[in-house]
Amino acid sequence: MTRKRVAILISGRGSNMRALIEAARSPDFPGEIVLVISSRMEADGLGLARELGVETALVDQGRFRRENRDREAYDAELHHVLTRANVEFVCLAGFMRILSPGFVRNWQGHIVNMHPSLLPAFRGLKPQAQALAAGVKVTGCTVHYVVPELDAGPTIAQTQVPVLEGDTEETLTARILEAEHRLYPQAVRDALMRL
Ligand code: GAR
Repeated sequence: MTRKRVAILISGRGSNMRALIEAARSPDFPGEIVLVISSRMEADGLGLARELGVETALVDQGRFRRENRDREAYDAELHHVLTRANVEFVCLAGFMRILSPGFVRNWQGHIVNMHPSLLPAFRGLKPQAQALAAGVKVTGCTVHYVVPELDAGPTIAQTQVPVLEGDTEETLTARILEAEHRLYPQAVRDALMRL
């Protein structure tokens, strides 16, 4: 088995990133995490990745904003950093940017995302709050291929999570996050095996 070269894109805490890095330590995991890229300098996940022994890069969205460079310029830099590291597969893990259609087309079939709802329900921002507001009894998380339309690509795997009496956004988010950490490594394993 040749292990695929995998990058993880983050913007914040990086708990899903940690779950992927830890799973990929197993010799039978079909990928190796060769790079973590953050869109934000302050992302806690950057230090965590280094502690876990993974190379990191920053493609700083603040710098692009200050220099009045647009989304296409940002995504071109991202593409450059990924290809320079010979990355073959990309996992979005709390990467809070919308990717341009051109970037997504370049990586289509080789880029996946974790979203904290049972897609197609509750796309976009704050899906846990959307689930509470809708009064559903079951929500969950979805790993899907990324396509140009936001949160709309083919599903790889989903886990259901119950909404309990008295849940707040925080308690529901924490329950879904635990399910995310179990689901993401399994879904990435499946996607890599299909390449
Ligand atoms: C996770 O809940 C992830 O599903 C969500 O952000 C959180 C990141 O946490 N992603 C999205 O909402 C993407 N639209 P983490 O940095 O600890 O993995």
